[in-house]
Amino acid sequence: MKLNIFNTENEVLAALAAHFVKIAGESIAKQGKFSVALSGGSSPKKLYELLASSFKNNVQWDKVYFFFGDERNVPQTHPDSNYLMAKKALFDPLNINSSNVFPVDTSLDPKDAAQRYEAEIEEFFEDEELSFDLILLGLGDNSHTASLFPYTPVLHDRTPGVKEVFLQDQQVYRITLNAPLINEAQHIAFLVYGGAKAIAVHHVLEDDEDIEEYPAQLIEPIVGEIQWFLDHDAASLLSKA
Ligand code: 6PG
Repeated sequence: MKLNIFNTENEVLAALAAHFVKIAGESIAKQGKFSVALSGGSSPKKLYELLASSFKNNVQWDKVYFFFGDERNVPQTHPDSNYLMAKKALFDPLNINSSNVFPVDTSLDPKDAAQRYEAEIEEFFEDEELSFDLILLGLGDNSHTASLFPYTPVLHDRTPGVKEVFLQDQQVYRITLNAPLINEAQHIAFLVYGGAKAIAVHHVLEDDEDIEEYPAQLIEPIVGEIQWFLDHDAASLLSKA
């Protein structure tokens, strides 16, 4: 694991954008395509905007296939939709062909949406390993990542897949890649910035293992590599930073 810690949010975003470009170039050179699972929430929006502007000429976008690490159980037109956020920040500005984008079909009920998405991922990878070239992840201040939330059954999955997750406190469903599927990736990158995340970063990276409390501790690539892209504020409670 590599920790990349920067003074400012903009430096974090620029470093991760360059990392994205590097992996995309290597994947396309090696296999003619680049598969990436995008993270949602607010942190990555600026990353996507940066990729679609300053870095737009650095990637062969027609060879990039976009999936989602998780999705809220809302219509694709809903302001909470991770797909809508990425569409506005990345797909539309780059004129990405819709055949290169794999949104979760949230018109289905959550369990069917998860099963359908898992089938789409299996179809994409044909009979190969379900190994994304890159999975981008964020970190919630309660140490969740994707939609792997504390004390949810999905944390105990042992085989790669996609599951629906019910959040009791919010009374909403989400659909998420499970940890075994995320851990199949060649490259995993966490994007975490801001002081509000500092305690979660400390729990995940330095506390004793407690996956129910700190689900992001489940993320350990089997054959791939993992990097964290942090600003000083988010890394401020790390003893070794
Ligand atoms: C989501 C994300 C989720 C996110 C964290 C951090 O759908 O919300 O996939 O895992 O990465 O909740 O969110 P922020 O970047 O908004 O703090």
